[in-house]
Amino acid sequence: NQFHIAVLIGSLRRDSFNRKLADAMAKLAPSDVTFKQLSIGDLPLYNQDDDAHQADTVLRLKADIKAAQGLLFVTPEYNRSIPGVLKNAIDHASRPYGQSAWSGKPAGVLGVSVGAIGTALAQQHLRNILAYLNCPTLAQPEAFIQAKDNLFDEHGEIGAASKEFLQGWMDQYVAWVKKHSV
Ligand code: FNR
Repeated sequence: NQFHIAVLIGSLRRDSFNRKLADAMAKLAPSDVTFKQLSIGDLPLYNQDDDAHQADTVLRLKADIKAAQGLLFVTPEYNRSIPGVLKNAIDHASRPYGQSAWSGKPAGVLGVSVGAIGTALAQQHLRNILAYLNCPTLAQPEAFIQAKDNLFDEHGEIGAASKEFLQGWMDQYVAWVKKHSV
């Protein structure tokens, strides 16, 4: 029985720490859990006029979310909230009214920042949005990660200093998704 996780990354930056974190976290999961990073950089800007004829990229996003048993958000903090590109994707997949792709999908929230609070405020904003969208979120453990030189090792895997903590996060996330997936 495979569990598919749709991964939403809040940065489009080529060398994004958050994308690296998503790549490295996937390697900490057991073999019955697979991760698919969804593309959000090619979505149009959300416009309610288009709800009746959503773009192919939006339909693809919604299909990928619906096919997943769980969600993993890995996002930077921009100006104490989530980046606009991520909010744009969330808004697209929530529409048209009554046809949201998000409802009921259990979600984990992670983020890495160059700043000391490690995306704490962005995560809190995201949890607020996900509560409205009827996505239960893993409450504990929380993970606020600062981008430091030793966060990743030379192979792009989680470095020794953070390994035990983030392995524990992944173990509890996987157990929780398996319990709550619909
Ligand atoms: C940031 N950054 C940032 N960091 C933070 O801890 N709190 C914040 O509010 C902000 N605000 C912010 C706004 C904008 C527009 C940018 C471009 C950046 C810095 C951010 O943590 C840093 O750029 C990370 O490297 C972004 O994540 P990725 O792209 O590496 O995944």
